[in-house]
Amino acid sequence: MKELIVTGGAGFIGSNFCHWTYNNHPDVHLTVLDALTYAGNRDNLRGIPEDNLTFVHGDICDRELVDRLFSGADGCVHFAAESHNDNSIVAPESFVRTNIGGTYTLLEAARAYDVRFHHISTDEVYGDLALDDPQRFTEESPYHPSSPYSSTKAASDMLVRAWVRTYGVRATISNCSNNYGPYQHVEKFIPRQITNILSGLSPKLYGDGLNVRDWIHVDDHSSAVWTILERGKLGETYLIGADGEKSNLEVLKAILRELDQPEDAFEWVRDRPGHDRRYAIDPSKISAQLEWRPMHVDFEDGLKETIAWYRDNGEWWGAEKEATEERYRRQSQ
Ligand code: NAD
Ligand code: DAU
Repeated sequence: MKELIVTGGAGFIGSNFCHWTYNNHPDVHLTVLDALTYAGNRDNLRGIPEDNLTFVHGDICDRELVDRLFSGADGCVHFAAESHNDNSIVAPESFVRTNIGGTYTLLEAARAYDVRFHHISTDEVYGDLALDDPQRFTEESPYHPSSPYSSTKAASDMLVRAWVRTYGVRATISNCSNNYGPYQHVEKFIPRQITNILSGLSPKLYGDGLNVRDWIHVDDHSSAVWTILERGKLGETYLIGADGEKSNLEVLKAILRELDQPEDAFEWVRDRPGHDRRYAIDPSKISAQLEWRPMHVDFEDGLKETIAWYRDNGEWWGAEKEATEERYRRQSQ
């Protein structure tokens, strides 16, 4: 895999994947295709030398452009998406266009040029679990998405499966749990609460704060994706998780502690409509079959590093912060 296209490489997980790949496999040349929506930032890739990275500002729905890039590539890791549930509830159209239409366009190019394709998806396609359910999601769990975002991701997974079976496209899929780490947009839970405190605003908790997310450090997501590219079986789906279940209230209290704030220094706000209760991944398949293990197993340590990153990179998030909070105010969130 010498020539790798990374769609959405200027976003949170895509840019971390590019840094991880450059640091661990400097012989690979990356071509990032990114439309630079509000969630994309060219600066996220700063530090990766030009010899290792070509940046293409463009849309994954642009067939001509996608064909041109695929004609010279060995593989594609497809991160590009509209990724935020709250936005999908207010304005779903771009989610349908990018997440379904964009994935279709890429699959057609992968078929035409026989490019190895890895599709990045989410555990949200499986819907949610009750807090006391002993089960976790596995590769056999039925699809049951709740939000416009997760339903478009579910649709994109189905397209990949159909293109594998019908046309023999050489593809794999991974469904990962909630990522945290540097370069995550301030609309998302952890960065929103950290940057609220750093800006003198109250952190905001939805519902009763007991919803559970299964946290994984973004570098562990990157190493898992690389493992699948190297050793994954074509046509297979792998769930990626790091046994990181925590309630939102627990995570918020850990952030408040680290930033020397009282434990109750936050506001309850309007709940997200259709809010999924709990996500939890059983990573047995990737662990047993591909021998992948997460490295960042201490969540509190990873959170401390993430808080330090936001504290040190105020310029990076300052510009987006005001517009993001204005959007949330309009939604009473
Ligand atoms: P993000 O919103 O931070 O980044 C998305 C990137 O895609 C941005 O750089 C944006 O400019 C780009 N993009 C959007 N529409 C585009 C288009 N039409 N053409 C080209 N580029 C476009 O998202 P993220 O959190 O980094 O998520 C990346 C992927 O991982 C998504 O597919 C998401 O569904 C999946 N995922 C995310 C998480 C998570 O916790 N964030 C967990 C599991 C899976
Ligand atoms: O599970 C994987 C998914 O994780 C990815 O597919 C999505 O792209 C990613 O955005 C994330 O989705 P969530 O909806 O779980 O993440 P979010 O950061 O939006 O919210 C995490 C939890 O925190 C959720 O229960 C809602 C809650 N929340 C969120 C915000 C922004 C709050 O309580 N307050 C907030 O201000």
